[in-house]
Amino acid sequence: MDRGGDLVHFLGIDAGTTGVTVGVYDADGNLVAKSYSEFETYYPQPGWVEQDAEHWWNSIIDACRQAVKIAKASDSIAAIAVANQRETIVPVGRDGEPVSRAIVWQDRRCREEVELIKERIGEERVAKITGLKPDPYFSLPKILWWMRNRPEVIEKSWKLMLVHDYIVYRLTGEVVTDYSNASRTMLLDLNSRKWCDEIAAEFNLDLSLMPDLVNSGEVVGEIRGNVAEKLGISSNPVVVAGGGDQQCSALAQGVVEEGSVKSTTGTGTFMVAPVEKVRGHGDIIYSAHVLPGINVGEVSIFTTGSLLSWVKKAFYHGEGYDVINEEAEKSGVGARGVFILPFFSGAGCPHWNPEAKGVIFGLTLAHNRGDIARAVMEAVAFEVRSNIEVMENKGISIEELRLDGGAANSRLWNQIFADVTGRKCLVSSDVEATARGAAILAASGSDSFNGIDDALTTFLPDFTEVMPSEDGMGKYEEIYSKYVQIRDAYLKG
Ligand code: G3P
Repeated sequence: MDRGGDLVHFLGIDAGTTGVTVGVYDADGNLVAKSYSEFETYYPQPGWVEQDAEHWWNSIIDACRQAVKIAKASDSIAAIAVANQRETIVPVGRDGEPVSRAIVWQDRRCREEVELIKERIGEERVAKITGLKPDPYFSLPKILWWMRNRPEVIEKSWKLMLVHDYIVYRLTGEVVTDYSNASRTMLLDLNSRKWCDEIAAEFNLDLSLMPDLVNSGEVVGEIRGNVAEKLGISSNPVVVAGGGDQQCSALAQGVVEEGSVKSTTGTGTFMVAPVEKVRGHGDIIYSAHVLPGINVGEVSIFTTGSLLSWVKKAFYHGEGYDVINEEAEKSGVGARGVFILPFFSGAGCPHWNPEAKGVIFGLTLAHNRGDIARAVMEAVAFEVRSNIEVMENKGISIEELRLDGGAANSRLWNQIFADVTGRKCLVSSDVEATARGAAILAASGSDSFNGIDDALTTFLPDFTEVMPSEDGMGKYEEIYSKYVQIRDAYLKG
């Protein structure tokens, strides 16, 4: 296919939990330039996590302008797509202004609403319809919290938008969401792929508040008014429906059919595996891939990369991850007896315990900050291992793990993942797999490519193999058992 013409660049936007990453890619799938812009997160009370949608938009402008400028691509952008932190939801009024701050996926405030969902619909029924498990993580409990505690917010709302939807709305004026995002709200019937009347009726929720459903990779429209100028773009790119960040990174890792799995460590760690059919519910959850008609099994570990950045802020004032890696390496296997339970915003899969807190265990005066950093890396790998066991119990076999996200920049952490899980790890040459996934969707909706498969073939990155070492695997066997004992005693206590 001829990839020629003047419009030879694609913009992949990763609107993540802590900031926006924008990548500019050429028609051969090479990352030409990238830029990052952080926005504020508010913690008004313990367990509450909020963001201002206007700040997302400012970061989009900031990161787009910079990336396009570095790439010298202002007049050659063909298409744009957004991948996003999922579940986070913002109520928007008729005037297009947010009615209140967004409630972020990490927020734990709506435990009562979760109990209400369990009582009125039942865990099994929720799982059967939506693939999910009642937990404050998902959007429905957040919506119910507004309905019960701030009814005026819902009264003033025109639409309830996920992060993708809000950004696409600011770009085009259209209000749409894609199935990979919709399937994380607990309002989508995963079987019929329609908003679920039964759940909405149970809570008197007006489904016209929800955006229209579209397929990822479908063209949504053109950029409105002077928005392109704000982004530093003079071509007239199409905006293509993107997808949830984890499904987008799975796409960019080539995780498109059963038998493959990826593990992204950014704010949290998310493992995604396409499944041919949903095999019983329980500890893992199911949602829609960005590939039409395909579902994925997923496990989510809530605070992982964010925990290492917490350690960085608390103990490494102004020093970088290179120092952290060096000291964590020196600490050695087992972090000299320090264990961390990484439940700093509740425990996700497979524990599903929103009350759980972070714990540092085994400290003595002989320990140092490097031991704590190492214990964080090991704890995340231990949780990944526990989740592999759960996935394999559901018949999802995991022979190798495809790693990406910021943590994949750490050679040490990648080796810890391989040694603790005993699995070959494949590290993507482009750790920003989420932005790449969005760029693949952008490209697939442009005239230059013939759908998602065609774009993926061109955009698939190279991988470096990290093999588990005999020595590391042996040592971690015992340490992992001890971790599980400590963790389970805490969670059951
Ligand atoms: O489900 C939450 C997830 O989408 C957030 O991803 O990359 O912002 O940690 P990330």
